[in-house]
Amino acid sequence: MTPPAGVVVRPAVDADAGELLTVQRAAFVAEAQRYGDPSLPPLREDVAAVRAAITADDVVCLVALRGTRLVGTVRLHVEGSLGHVGRLAVAPDQERLGIGTHLLAAVEAAAPQEVTEFRLFTGGDSAATVARYERAGYHRTRTSVDDRGVPLAHLAKVR
Ligand SMILES: CC(C)(COP(=O)(O)OP(=O)(O)OC[C@H]1O[C@@H](n2cnc3c(N)ncnc32)[C@H](O)[C@@H]1OP(=O)(O)O)[C@@H](O)C(=O)NCCC(=O)NCCS
Repeated sequence: MTPPAGVVVRPAVDADAGELLTVQRAAFVAEAQRYGDPSLPPLREDVAAVRAAITADDVVCLVALRGTRLVGTVRLHVEGSLGHVGRLAVAPDQERLGIGTHLLAAVEAAAPQEVTEFRLFTGGDSAATVARYERAGYHRTRTSVDDRGVPLAHLAKVR
């Protein structure tokens, strides 16, 4: 599994928190505009919450770097045999270079042994994002609507 040229992926450390949040916010603004909802959870998170995720025992948090610049991130929350993938985000000017695809594969590979199934959800109206997850081996399990009326597509993949 080779990252795109010039990109290095490693576990996030405390010092990454501020820049990670900046990239996450920039990336998720496009989703917020699509759904007319500026309070999507990735946009509401503050730096303390990001710090807590980076150090949590049950979270794998990765960052992608181009040189010294943080250009992407992803998290996996481990809950027994389930690995919940979330907060996959790539800096807007770095999209469509393969970084998102690589981060997803990297966090799956970094999951502890006990994880046998990956789960994630995404905006149900983001057809391109859903199709991308399907190409990565995920299948749709159900749809739902969150507490602010945003449609969600839930997907899963057996390890
Ligand atoms: C979703 C997201 C993480 C994807 O990141 P990305 O780095 O652009 O993803 P990739 O580059 O791996 O794949 C995107 C596209 O580029 C294509 N691509 C991959 N490598 C490429 C390359 N080297 N050259 C050109 N295109 C490439 C992929 O085939 C894919 O095409 P598609 O859109 O037609 O499916 C990013 O768009 C993002 O941060 N979005 C906002 C936040 C969000 O929606 N997160 C997911 C919520 S669950």
